[in-house]
Amino acid sequence: MAPPAACLIGWPAAHSRSPIIHKHWLKTLGIAGDYRIEAVKPEMLASFLRELPARGYVGANVTMPHKEQALTLAQGDTRARAVGAANTLWFDGGVLRATNTDVEGFVGNLDASAPGWDHASGDALVLGAGGASRAVLFGLLERGGGRIHLANRTRERADALAEKFGARVNPIDWGAIARVLPGVKLLVNTTSLGMKGQPPLDIDVGVLPADAVVADLVSVPLHTPLLSAARARGLKTADGLGMLLHQAVGGFALWFGQRPAVTTELRALVEADLAK
Ligand code: ATR
Repeated sequence: MAPPAACLIGWPAAHSRSPIIHKHWLKTLGIAGDYRIEAVKPEMLASFLRELPARGYVGANVTMPHKEQALTLAQGDTRARAVGAANTLWFDGGVLRATNTDVEGFVGNLDASAPGWDHASGDALVLGAGGASRAVLFGLLERGGGRIHLANRTRERADALAEKFGARVNPIDWGAIARVLPGVKLLVNTTSLGMKGQPPLDIDVGVLPADAVVADLVSVPLHTPLLSAARARGLKTADGLGMLLHQAVGGFALWFGQRPAVTTELRALVEADLAK
């Protein structure tokens, strides 16, 4: 029998660091297995998922444009259903199950990069109201704590998320960001601002409390203007690469039966590839 394998399903074929991450863990844990990229058209996703076992797959990651459709083709857990998208699939007996590991990727990265982040008093401020924002909101709500301001350029999308996630989420205008910053202990950017080719996020981290933590989900570039400004002020930060590494842990554990560690060695390996 061929060793167990997992794959990343996308269309067009995803350019991804996931194979580097999972192959590194397979190698360091001494597990015979594989992780491949599979290009699958949206109209072929259902049949591809049915054929996963026949193709030798014990599970899969799904990415653009399949994350929402995958949730309709598998049994989603609470996280996947709350986020409205799945990124990790595995078999439980004969049943195909789905979760969204962006939630634990975000929270796990904060725990590793800024231990105690959830004990400071103050509000959280989340910027953006897309899929990434839903994963962040769900993670913050799961961990308990205080109020979460949610600012989005298009205010209606923030209102809709507040409606969905409940009273702890407080939608605010994009123009009101500066007003809430002095009371914010955790600032999270889930927008594309600061990404390569996009304008930077125009935020004055100088008015944040001295013990505030700043997280940016953007991973290209790794050192976004937001994170650089936060570090220059001596604030703790959590970057997009950390989240990418931490979100991969859950899938690997489900597929290959061991919980891998996010090490500096792995980080350096992926960082070198990002720099190419
Ligand atoms: P994802 O699913 O990755 O979160 P998305 O749904 O495309 O991606 O969301 C992108 C986020 O970046 C949105 O919150 C978007 O704001 P809008 O809802 O108003 O579109 C935000 N964004 C993108 N460009 C922006 C800009 N120039 N200024 C402010 N916000 C921006």
